[in-house]
Amino acid sequence: DALTARNDADNLTELIPSLPVEKRLVPPPADMQRRQYRGYWFPEWHLSALAAVRDHFEPKPTDIFLVSCPKSGTTWLKSLAFATVHRHVHPPSSREHPMLHQNPHGCVKFIHAIYRQPVDVVRGIVEAYPSPRIFGSHFPLSLLPERINDDGCECRIVYICRDPKDVVVSWWWFMRTYLPNPEQVRFEEVFDLFCEGRTGAGPYWRHALEHWEESRRRPHKVLFLRYEEMLRDPQCNLRRLAEFLGCAFSEAEEKAGVLEAILELCSLGKLKKLEVNQSGNRIKDEPMMNDSFFRKGVAGDWINHMTPEMAARLDAIVEQALQGTGFDF
Ligand code: A3P
Repeated sequence: DALTARNDADNLTELIPSLPVEKRLVPPPADMQRRQYRGYWFPEWHLSALAAVRDHFEPKPTDIFLVSCPKSGTTWLKSLAFATVHRHVHPPSSREHPMLHQNPHGCVKFIHAIYRQPVDVVRGIVEAYPSPRIFGSHFPLSLLPERINDDGCECRIVYICRDPKDVVVSWWWFMRTYLPNPEQVRFEEVFDLFCEGRTGAGPYWRHALEHWEESRRRPHKVLFLRYEEMLRDPQCNLRRLAEFLGCAFSEAEEKAGVLEAILELCSLGKLKKLEVNQSGNRIKDEPMMNDSFFRKGVAGDWINHMTPEMAARLDAIVEQALQGTGFDF
């Protein structure tokens, strides 16, 4: 019936210990191990946080969700969305801009990172958020509470995807920044895990397909962006983003170079050089270091890391999974 069909009807907290588990390439503590829930693999603690999101999160019509699989350009999207939406309060060329002093993941927090904390702390964080509120989410729409997904809810979702071959290379490098024996993390091992769809938020292609389909079905609700397209034409994609979020750039802003100023502020080169994003700094309570979110930021780096056979294997897996959908990377 309608109630049991809801995506948030499970008693998730009770369910977690019985879900299929994946322990490869998982750092301590134990709740970092991945569990498969409704087709997707997530660290256990993300699922506990998801249960809290379902219990306590109340969307506002102006809320914005930036949804992605890790390593797809989330950090870039967070910085662009934050700088664009809050440009009247924080002009992008201001020396006091929050992004000059905070990692983009501090400016726009992940919903799982917020909701892993006690309810009263969460309330404080969420209430202090500037409006419109922007949240990051690795949870696909199908796992988020119905009241966000619902057509009656006006909040908007921006999705970013990337060539899976570049994503797996990025994963490999990222894992080496937080796993206990980085030199022992072999690319082949990460690659296998990714091909099996068992890296965080995987299978990658399923996650992307779900949002591509939603963006076709409900273009007013979901904007689908591609990392490579953003690299190729950042201006055009930033304009699309601003329009979608209801804060299009005016002619005067275009003339004044506001767009370029935002792109410059959010560029990999700029962010990477900032003191706050140098090694040794991290967001409070997060296992990842701030510098681990910035590497090369290019398209096609996979060619330097995988054999043609590996590339063909991943391409074939993706092709088979997407067959007949009309979607492609
Ligand atoms: P590479 O490892 O290929 O360099 P995520 O933010 O989803 O974790 O993705 C990380 C990837 O995005 C990394 O890719 C990183 O270098 C790249 N990235 C981070 N910030 C960026 C920015 N401001 N512009 C472009 N790419 C960025």
